Amino acid sequence: MNYQAKDTRYDTAGFRRCGKSGLKLPEISLGLWQNFSDNDLFSNCREILRTAFDHGITHFDLANNYGPPPGSAEELFGRIMEKDFRPYRDEMVIATKAGYDMWPGPYGDHGSRKYLLASLDQSLKRMKLDYVDIFYHHRPDPDTPVEESMLALDQAVRQGKALYAGISNYNAFEAEKAISVLKELRTPFIIHQAKYSMFERWVEGGLLNVLEKTGTGCIAFSPLAQGMLTDKYLNGIPGQSRAARNHTSLKPEQLLPERIEKARKLNELAKMRGQSLAQMAIAWLLKDSRVTSVLIGASRTSQLMNSLEALNNKHFSLEELMTIESILA
Ligand SMILES: NC(=O)c1ccc[n+]([C@@H]2O[C@H](COP(=O)([O-])OP(=O)(O)OC[C@H]3O[C@@H](n4cnc5c(N)ncnc54)[C@H](OP(=O)(O)O)[C@@H]3O)[C@@H](O)[C@H]2O)c1
Repeated sequence: MNYQAKDTRYDTAGFRRCGKSGLKLPEISLGLWQNFSDNDLFSNCREILRTAFDHGITHFDLANNYGPPPGSAEELFGRIMEKDFRPYRDEMVIATKAGYDMWPGPYGDHGSRKYLLASLDQSLKRMKLDYVDIFYHHRPDPDTPVEESMLALDQAVRQGKALYAGISNYNAFEAEKAISVLKELRTPFIIHQAKYSMFERWVEGGLLNVLEKTGTGCIAFSPLAQGMLTDKYLNGIPGQSRAARNHTSLKPEQLLPERIEKARKLNELAKMRGQSLAQMAIAWLLKDSRVTSVLIGASRTSQLMNSLEALNNKHFSLEELMTIESILA
């Protein structure tokens, strides 16, 4: 049946300005890293994506290598674009990235101009798009001058193949250097995508300050630590979970007993706040105004709906924040 987006889609959604740019992003965005590959059921993926847009998630995050196989998440998104999303293209912010291993030989990885521009062309074909809204360099490349990688992002924008540029996984020092090059070029650079959750707080050690100082937005990825910041692993590894499946990035050995113990205590606090642990973990990131958007994953629609309810309670008392700090210490 033809998809018609819900008229109520913007009724409850919150949006934040991305750094000092003109672009606003939803407080919760959806990524297609792990659950949108050739191994996943198309009908389930389609339902998640439709439900997201129906609830004001206007921002979808992809990368050339998302799959497996690499490229398959973009292909899946291209099918949804053709079947459902085309009439709503101007209501969406679609991002892709290049920076990890994508094709054989010396030109299919890292940060050369050759790789980045060829990869963006491939991504556009797979996603059946004329342009993406954000094109990211996915990770810093120590062997390519940062000027070359940033000029490639700049060129992508000048060619009209991307509206804005972004960087991901750059540390504070690397980000400052890249941003100064982009400022010199007057590239519409607006965002840094960084791993940030209650379990992964490296951005607090300098990166967030750099982003604030330079007027750059921050989108926090893996806010649920791939599921560890939910109640799902409190009593073992359920079948069908990311840690139980092959070809995923969460291995059972990452579920360290001390992490699960922390998750158990956080879960108790979340209950006292009337939230699920997933909701509290998302709200905790949004308490910082430097965080533009929280970039979640979901393997089913019910998870997405659960996570969206985080927006109903983003306030933390001082006491709650101190309790969280003592649990995480
Ligand atoms: N720039 C980068 O280098 C980079 C790297 C990684 C990710 N990302 C981006 O960040 C996005 C999100 O990453 P992520 O998937 O790791 O995020 P995440 O939100 O930390 O984890 C998502 C997983 O948590 C579980 N989950 C989600 N909502 C839940 C809920 N309400 N209750 C219980 N469990 C829930 C699901 O696990 P199950 O599958 O077990 O059901 C889901 O697959 C990616 O899609 C990608 O766009 C970027």
